[in-house]
Amino acid sequence: MLQAAAVDGEQLEQMLARRVVGEPLEQVLGWAEFSGQRIVVAPGVFVPRRRTELLVERAAQLLGADARPVVVDLCCGTGAIGVAIAQRLEVELHAADVDPDAVACARQNVTMGEVHEGNLYDALPVGLRGRVDLLAVNAPYVPTGEIRLMPPEARLHEHHVALDGGSDGLDLHRRVASGAPEWLRPGGTLLIETSQAQVEGTAAACADAGLRPTTLSRDESTLVEAVAPSVSSRT
Ligand SMILES: C[S@@+](CC[C@H](N)C(=O)[O-])C[C@H]1O[C@@H](n2cnc3c(N)ncnc32)[C@H](O)[C@@H]1O
Repeated sequence: MLQAAAVDGEQLEQMLARRVVGEPLEQVLGWAEFSGQRIVVAPGVFVPRRRTELLVERAAQLLGADARPVVVDLCCGTGAIGVAIAQRLEVELHAADVDPDAVACARQNVTMGEVHEGNLYDALPVGLRGRVDLLAVNAPYVPTGEIRLMPPEARLHEHHVALDGGSDGLDLHRRVASGAPEWLRPGGTLLIETSQAQVEGTAAACADAGLRPTTLSRDESTLVEAVAPSVSSRT
């Protein structure tokens, strides 16, 4: 793949040198394949993982019947999740991330929606409050103490803000869940990727926020799907 990507021998040498010191192949190439799409990946930005395609598939199932639903790809990184959803369905897409490098990268990928920069929900336009049909989230969930056990591709070449989920890995999940009811429409869904080891904690964070969580697993992928109360159950 490097040979095919390099314009000449000198560039190939440079690319090989980057790969040899552990830079992810996708960052060296400048793109990753995700859900059938070529996604631009800049140095330091989280490389979209194949396991996250389950989140995209489930999102498409959930939204299939809705007319131009509002989708927020929160903690978007490259924007891969939002791009893949928008490729399958007509949606009003918003993507947001706190890392300026990720935001710059997402702006290259998300051509059919808006990309916002900021800390979780602070990044979103206030007009989205109570209107979001689907919050599609792959936030960091690696416990801080386990980052050192990750392969060098992640540990040394993806920004720690993309990996670090705090002491039990669930800091971001608790913050995402607690803010979700304010942004979801009644009956809207938070779909969040987690791990098998952490799924109970992620689901508990959703239940604590007043959402109704269920879990979904396939191969290496685990999701929590958490539904906001409908109007009738709120009143
Ligand atoms: C595990 S990566 C996932 C990226 C993308 N969703 C994907 O699946 O490829 C987590 C992302 O969350 C972002 N992030 C971490 N803390 C954040 C925060 N407080 N607010 C917004 N984004 C945050 C990181 O910059 C990173 O891009």
